[in-house]
Amino acid sequence: MQVELRDIHKFFGPVHANRGITLTIPAGTIQGLLGENGAGKSTLMKILSGFIRPDRGEIRLDGRPVSFRSPADALRQGIGMLHQDPLDFPPMRVLDNFVAGSPGGLLPDKEDARQALLSISQQFGFSLDPDAYVDTLTVGERQQLEIVRLLWLGARVLIFDEPTTGISAQQREKLFAALRRLADEGRTIIFVTHKLEEVQALCHRVAVLRSGELVGEAQAPYDLDRLVEMMFGKVITVGRAEPVPLGEPVLELRDLAVEDHRLHIRGVTLDIRAGEVIGLAGMEGSGQRRLLRAAAGLIRPTGGTVRFLGQDMTGRPYLDFHKAGATYIPADRMTEGLFPDLTIAEHVALAREQTGFLLNAEQMRAWAQEAIENFSIRGRPETPARALSGGNQQRLLLALMRPDLRLIFMEHPTRGLDLESALWIWRKLKDRCRKGTAIFFMSSDLEELLNYSDRVLVFFGGRVSRPLPAEELDVERLGQLIGGYGFDRVANDAITEPQTEGKAA
Ligand SMILES: Nc1ncnc2c1ncn2[C@@H]1O[C@H](COP(=O)(O)OP(=O)(O)OP(=O)(O)O)[C@@H](O)[C@H]1O
Ligand SMILES: [Mg+2]
Repeated sequence: MQVELRDIHKFFGPVHANRGITLTIPAGTIQGLLGENGAGKSTLMKILSGFIRPDRGEIRLDGRPVSFRSPADALRQGIGMLHQDPLDFPPMRVLDNFVAGSPGGLLPDKEDARQALLSISQQFGFSLDPDAYVDTLTVGERQQLEIVRLLWLGARVLIFDEPTTGISAQQREKLFAALRRLADEGRTIIFVTHKLEEVQALCHRVAVLRSGELVGEAQAPYDLDRLVEMMFGKVITVGRAEPVPLGEPVLELRDLAVEDHRLHIRGVTLDIRAGEVIGLAGMEGSGQRRLLRAAAGLIRPTGGTVRFLGQDMTGRPYLDFHKAGATYIPADRMTEGLFPDLTIAEHVALAREQTGFLLNAEQMRAWAQEAIENFSIRGRPETPARALSGGNQQRLLLALMRPDLRLIFMEHPTRGLDLESALWIWRKLKDRCRKGTAIFFMSSDLEELLNYSDRVLVFFGGRVSRPLPAEELDVERLGQLIGGYGFDRVANDAITEPQTEGKAA
């Protein structure tokens, strides 16, 4: 089905999120939609899928003007969307979730639905168990469930809003294969991203948005430098960050273990020094998060000790770490980091911990304005967190960090951020390192790990490597280790006899 967007406008109060966007997407193509954080990508796609209405403009499907009263209405006319922020999944079984979404009020026969679920899944190499509970699925599997559901309901245009955020490299390959196949079958795929390499790997064509406007279109093969320029209006280069001189140990891990039936992570001995950045690499679910959380007092380690600023903190709760000068920035910013309904000003006031004082509105506004300027947040003091774009939520979280921190724990610090925002955030983080803050973070972005870490720990198959100096690694080597190639040689639990390590000793 051919999709035409004509002169689409959308205002959110004073924000002109879409400024007259006109774009034609031929049937059977994978159309990339590229743009920096806040460019208006999600807004445009929500309009196309019936979640919000445009203030002006027209949508045509195969040349016929249409309008959508709701997402269900759009789906009846063939358009389905997978959202950027994982939708809330109530604790129900896969099959019930699958059936629950069917529009029109008619409950389909469960047995038919089960067959459909299994056969569509099989076509795409997804392994979805109809009887599993949805809340036990990984982000990637939930996505697969949504794809199967949209196909079952007859979607001919499928919109994916940053679908690779938070899924493993393997799941991404599976997803890309499914998308290619869908396009081959004549379906229209719209793929929203700010990752150039994904556009290059997947999309037949791409449209670039900037500040609510369509600034250009291109077709494969792409000139990547030109795409970057279109996105940001200027040329940007990325590279390894300047090394920061290191100070005293801030966090000392001795023989730390986080073991369960699957994970055999033990014997982690590591000093993180003032100014140092340690990155944790590995496929999602390999134990990085557990180690990070154990080191921050969020979960109990199963063995070993943790010292923070010279004090034994083993088994102490996160609150004690926090009081002593550490903070933990989770990946799931909306559920754990921000309060969706509180405004920027309220967040900033809360973070200042001015309890006991009556906050005056003027002061709150001024602080919020300062945070907005320093962190280039696209929003106003009175904007609620949920109205910020994904990237701007991340900036707000960073703006809320106390200035005197000694240690920052982070899960995926720049996940969902475009190149320029990510560079900018790391510049801010490295400024803190220069003042003696240590950073302990996990990421699935190999470039990020290599560009900003001093040392990297790789997780594979429930085990962890020794700390590896980042300058001895490159993307290829790190990727191999994450996939298990050559892992035994760097594993932490490897029984290293004196002779096995080169010709030393
Ligand atoms: N419901 C809303 N209320 C108010 N403003 C909004 C709302 N939704 C989006 N905006 C604003 O519209 C602009 C475009 O946001 P949008 O979410 O479309 O960006 P995006 O390109 O998807 O960004 P990202 O890559 O960060 O997801 C932003 O300035 C955002 O703050
Ligand atoms: Mg978005």
